[in-house]
Amino acid sequence: MADKKATVQVTGQEPFDLPIMSGTAGNDVIDVRTLGAQGVFTYDPGFLATASCQSEITFIDGGKGVLLHRGYPIEQLANDSSYLELCYLLLHGELPSSEKLEEFEETITHHTMVHEKIANFFHGFVVDAHPMAMLCGVVGALSSFYHDDLSITDPAQRKRSAYRLVAKLPTIAAMAYKYSIGQPFVYPKNKLSYSENFLHMMFSVPAEDYEVNPIIAKAMDKIFMLHADHEQNASTSTVRLAGSSGANPYACIAAGIASLWGPAHGGANEACLTMLQQIGSVDRIPEFVAKAKDKADPFRLMGFGHRVYKNFDPRAKVMRETCHEVLTALKINDPLLDVAMELERIALEDPYFVEKKLYPNVDFYSGIILKAIGIPTSMFTVIFAMSRTVGWISHWDEMLSEKGQKIGRPRQLYTGAPKRDYVTVDKR
Ligand code: SDX
Repeated sequence: MADKKATVQVTGQEPFDLPIMSGTAGNDVIDVRTLGAQGVFTYDPGFLATASCQSEITFIDGGKGVLLHRGYPIEQLANDSSYLELCYLLLHGELPSSEKLEEFEETITHHTMVHEKIANFFHGFVVDAHPMAMLCGVVGALSSFYHDDLSITDPAQRKRSAYRLVAKLPTIAAMAYKYSIGQPFVYPKNKLSYSENFLHMMFSVPAEDYEVNPIIAKAMDKIFMLHADHEQNASTSTVRLAGSSGANPYACIAAGIASLWGPAHGGANEACLTMLQQIGSVDRIPEFVAKAKDKADPFRLMGFGHRVYKNFDPRAKVMRETCHEVLTALKINDPLLDVAMELERIALEDPYFVEKKLYPNVDFYSGIILKAIGIPTSMFTVIFAMSRTVGWISHWDEMLSEKGQKIGRPRQLYTGAPKRDYVTVDKR
């Protein structure tokens, strides 16, 4: 219905109408852009009921546990596509022809090396620096190396910086890992696929040949796909807000990395594995579930709950299947998987979690797979950031392509001191 509207009645004022906008799927929204002119503002800390933009990239139906990338269900993409094909889809809006895909893969492959001086940045970090700290710093510094793609009003330059970021994040992430374990940096190999190359840069050493395990490469690629994009989550909103001021793409992605690091967001995969290790065995699960339900205890079950999903996170379902596939194929019997499965079973039957619609999210199983692949816990959020870079830069590009794009500048409800005169220190 074209003329849906909401009527606002502010005490002492004449009522006025606001248009209601409908998308191609999901909730309608009340267009409050003209509210300010009426001297009225909305209040929504945490953006529980606020749409910050229009977007064509990803759609989530939290009630049904649906996740679509440009209309394609994540389950189908995770099983039939590849991370680079998904990158093309997110960036360009359509699945590529085989020629277009080959050309895109070729382009990404030839941007995977970083300027040799980037290595010097790592030597400025203490050896036990968290890899996310290194990622944040080095990605932000990339703008000092690339001056030919910083004109954000030029769609071609925006795409070039997007391709550079997708291509270089694995190289920089692997360098952070190598630095943290005191091994030499490993250059990318163009004959390898995106995920094979990442594993090669992470685990090969100059002293011997390294064969990428195809099972692990396939699992890695699937993990990259499952983390690629997720609507207006905290880190994506951070990238959009940073980009709205005209900041360069590398600085915006560094801001997204910083936001993702929090344990309530992308840091949950690292926190979840630590939690499973803390629980240690199935018989200690009730103790931790009780802590999670105790209002006086700040402890939460990491990997559970979501602002949007009030049903199973579809990514968690794919991740769980992949977890079983990888552990079986690698003949790994990890007791943490038993703890995770039992924790999931108990939590999904517990009234507290059922009433609050707390289901396992994308971070619940990813840590177990990453651990099985041999990736240290401190690198889990780095993997998330690498995967999410394409989502962040796709939203950044979409925002900057909009006509009349404005700088993001929220208002506030002021609750501080009323106006008062300064008192000199001798009179206080
Ligand atoms: C990601 O936004 C995205 O799309 C994010 C993400 C993406 O791909 O970008 O999906 C990735 O960040 C997944 C979420 C990873 N985080 C965690 O697993 C950390 C644990 N989860 C929670 O911190 C929490 O569930 C959030 C942060 C994910 C969601 O928080 P909300 O929507 O603000 O909900 P809330 O904190 O208000 O919780 C609602 C209620 C509260 O109880 P009441 O105050 O109403 O009594 O549920 C409780 C919470 O105490 N609750 C939990 C819980 N999560 C929420 N209780 C125990 N364990 C939990 N994990």
